[in-house]
Amino acid sequence: MKGIAVLTSGGDAPGMNACIRSVTRSALAADLPVYGVLHGFEGLIDGCFTRLARSDVSNILQRGGTIIHAARSERFLQPSGRAAAAASLESAGIDGLVVIGGEGSFHGADLLAKEHGVKVAGVPGTIDNDVWGTDRTIGFDTAVNTALSAIDRIRDTAAAHERLFVIEVMGRTAGFIALEAGIGGGAESILLPEIPTDLGRLVSLLERRRSEGRLSSIVVVAEGDDAGNAVQIAEKLQEMAGLTCHATVLGHVQRGGSPTSLDRVLATKLGWAAVQALLDGAAPCMVGEVAGSLLRNPLSSSWLGRKPLDPVLVHLSSLLV
Ligand code: F6P
Repeated sequence: MKGIAVLTSGGDAPGMNACIRSVTRSALAADLPVYGVLHGFEGLIDGCFTRLARSDVSNILQRGGTIIHAARSERFLQPSGRAAAAASLESAGIDGLVVIGGEGSFHGADLLAKEHGVKVAGVPGTIDNDVWGTDRTIGFDTAVNTALSAIDRIRDTAAAHERLFVIEVMGRTAGFIALEAGIGGGAESILLPEIPTDLGRLVSLLERRRSEGRLSSIVVVAEGDDAGNAVQIAEKLQEMAGLTCHATVLGHVQRGGSPTSLDRVLATKLGWAAVQALLDGAAPCMVGEVAGSLLRNPLSSSWLGRKPLDPVLVHLSSLLV
């Protein structure tokens, strides 16, 4: 190999910096020059490369966000954008690319590999955890813990005032954050995009609790739930049962913050694994960790496979209320 570039794409996730550090130092250990691509695929198209030395990635392991910035690129969806990106890599003497992002980013990366023969190694980084081929994505654990700490705080005031809260967490198409934060926070109900929501059943549950004297409740909803967002659900509960209900949208607070130890360690392992995949000639592929083992799978498996929610957690979400 001649040189490796690394980019972060899609929504940022805590631990992306730890991964950039790992990719950089793993490649330097193999005597390869390393470049950071600024602004994701947008920067790849425009040839925005910055050479990374060991010291450039010092003191970033513990920081949220991404020092090379992330972006969602419309131009990269076009064949002309991908051709320009391949030409930028070629003229900079770079023949290996590490893409840290979610399955949408891997889709684009796969086209770049197929159309132009670029060797791409994908590293799953998104708070949503909705990437097949890895038990956990980089950023998921931190996002869950951020949501959990917010739920705990809301629980205090909900209990003090005997109120009902609907708390919305991120996840347009996936309920992983809602499920784990909801279970960890003891939510009375967890509404997930993967499972049709029955608001009538929710009202019965809340009324039963009230009749037992349990006046405060927490409902956790993923932003992509079929019954609507937190504000809409709160309004519907008010209409259907006259329940006064407060809505809290956690939003982008879940995307920031210092990564947990689990995310830092996962990011460090997967960054190294991506460089090894490039060195071994295994690219294009995505790396992941399943049951403690590092694996390589085709990039396409990240969107062709549908990662299931943990069925035990789904069962417990309604059993323990
Ligand atoms: O994919 C990560 C994610 O945070 C989703 O949970 C959320 O729906 C989306 O990104 C928000 O994207 P943006 O920051 O572009 O609004």
